Amino acid sequence: MAYKLLFVCLGNICRSPSAENIMKHLVNQTGLSKEIICDSAGTSSYHIGSPPDRRMSAAAKLRGIQLVGEARQFQRSDFEKFDLILAMDRENYRDILALDRSQQYKDKVKLMCDFCTRHNLKEVPDPYYGGPEGFNQVIDLLLDACEGLLNYVISQQQSVN
Ligand code: 4NP
Repeated sequence: MAYKLLFVCLGNICRSPSAENIMKHLVNQTGLSKEIICDSAGTSSYHIGSPPDRRMSAAAKLRGIQLVGEARQFQRSDFEKFDLILAMDRENYRDILALDRSQQYKDKVKLMCDFCTRHNLKEVPDPYYGGPEGFNQVIDLLLDACEGLLNYVISQQQSVN
């Protein structure tokens, strides 16, 4: 069975689509696109149906990553559908777990920055109201976190198979 990852931020137009597309890029490079499935969602309904933010896409393109996607809102059914849910910041983490009424999915929800090995920040900062450097920082952090996450998922899969 494929391992399913869901990346979650507030709007699903900046951080989580970047995480999804960076992770897909790494997964493809590793030849694991059938084994590891990636998706993203937002805790809010603000941007449902929108493509990734242009400023975010520009920053990703500088690093060779094309952002594709259409924003959707996180749903309770995602707890069942995904093996691991990666929150970009603590507010996203709390908002996700607030929907876990039976408190049975806590172990599936983790902070994305917990997988960083080169950066010390504990959250992926919201770049929406800032300048271009914020968007570049998001890509830097996510490249680091996605590498760590890929190694984690591969080690998890090896321990199961
Ligand atoms: P994201 O960024 O959560 O990384 O997609 C944001 C997008 C939109 C808003 C805030 C953050 N907003 O307030 O509309």
